[in-house]
Amino acid sequence: ENNVYKYYSEGEWRKSVSGKSVAIVNPTTRKTQYKVQACSQAEVNKVMEAAKIAQKAWAKTPLWKRAELLHKAAAILKEHKHPIAECLVKEIAKPAKDSVTEVVRSGDLISYCAEEGVRILGQGTFLVSDSFPGNERTKYCLASKVPLGVVLAIPPFNYPVNLAVSKIAPALIAGNSIVLKPPTQGAVSCLHMVHCFHLAGFPKSLINCVTGKGSEIGDFLTMHPGVNCISFTGGDTGISISKKAGMIPLQMELGGKDACIVLEDADLDLAAANIVKGGLSYSGQRCTAVKIVLVVESVADALMEKVNAKVAKLTVGPPEEDCDITPVVSESSANFIEGLVMDAKEKGATFCQTYKREGNLIWPLLLDNVRADMRIAWEEPFGPVLPVIRIGSVEEGINHCNASNFGLQGCVFTKDINKAMIISDAMETGTVQINSAPARGPDHFPFQGLKDSGIGSQGITNSINMMVKVKSTVINLP
Ligand code: G3H
Repeated sequence: ENNVYKYYSEGEWRKSVSGKSVAIVNPTTRKTQYKVQACSQAEVNKVMEAAKIAQKAWAKTPLWKRAELLHKAAAILKEHKHPIAECLVKEIAKPAKDSVTEVVRSGDLISYCAEEGVRILGQGTFLVSDSFPGNERTKYCLASKVPLGVVLAIPPFNYPVNLAVSKIAPALIAGNSIVLKPPTQGAVSCLHMVHCFHLAGFPKSLINCVTGKGSEIGDFLTMHPGVNCISFTGGDTGISISKKAGMIPLQMELGGKDACIVLEDADLDLAAANIVKGGLSYSGQRCTAVKIVLVVESVADALMEKVNAKVAKLTVGPPEEDCDITPVVSESSANFIEGLVMDAKEKGATFCQTYKREGNLIWPLLLDNVRADMRIAWEEPFGPVLPVIRIGSVEEGINHCNASNFGLQGCVFTKDINKAMIISDAMETGTVQINSAPARGPDHFPFQGLKDSGIGSQGITNSINMMVKVKSTVINLP
């Protein structure tokens, strides 16, 4: 078919020989918005082979030239922020303004990565042997950072552009080639983003983008012997990928159940603003969203009054109108969220708003008096539904946070910095924010999850370092 977006391989836009396509359903209209190629395993093999060859030449390309091309791609991406944002609106129902922000942030991330890369990778280490017992000064070790090879990048639907470039840019500056497998929802935004790299003039086969069904090419890609590194952001799939992958470096970010602990002395206006923004922006479909509020009983009524007043002001509707709450990504996601809400209802949670759903659009809902026997106390809704547990002590809050199988981020609201530091130390999460909602950015900050939330650390600097190996040459003097 002619209206199926082509995939990108060997510097060209191609139709799959499979003749099949994958439909992308607009979450708002629930009708097919776009179609992409359903690539075959043979096509993946071809891409892998070409990416391997292209990487060898790229690794020899001077670092400053790699950086120059990345800066160029960043500028082109920013120039195309509006058409790409329009795709995000249609594919993943991200509010219009946030969609533009995602593209601009991605351009900035690429440029920062180019700058950081030339600094980090322009330095190596030099060691001499006589500091270790028994050695004379007869060995000089020169250690530098060399690329891994082909990096497989798999971003999720909620930031198809930004979480793709957060993998692509560090990989490229470090001298690797890229095979990108976009999420189905978000694939067309990814293809447009890849086109910006194409326009920037990167060598052919260095960046490749294969679209298709997970059932056909998912495992085939992640278990492919040509892959030298996997950078994945998403859900549970990451756990099975990590079990099946070969002996290669893995970078995984698999969601969270970020707790927001509110103490008696907290600035409740600040806490309420962060709970609403942190919990409900992009309808709660962020791995770093506040996913459980743990508030000390003595201030719970006052906090909930402020939170509910803010929730009442949220606009609910289509992403084109830049509403705060937009349809969740798919019908199955909406059904899952509804399942959590109904479970909480049966078990006696207090509904602060009326539960309302039309298609994939779910109205924002705070559930108060949630207890540990409710699924929503532990599971990630990935929707505009936020549970609140009233706690008798801070320890109770910390215990709940640490009993989770996730450990991405968490936050604590208090005016007492000493208490905040002690709580931060006690929370078993990759990051703790003091007096602000969890967030990945600024994008050069380290970003990591403990337990089922992930493997390794991201953020620009850490991603570059993760996508290289140390190689040393030892000069032996007579
Ligand atoms: O969904 C996962 C993202 O890494 C969260 O990024 O904190 O910028 O929304 P964010």
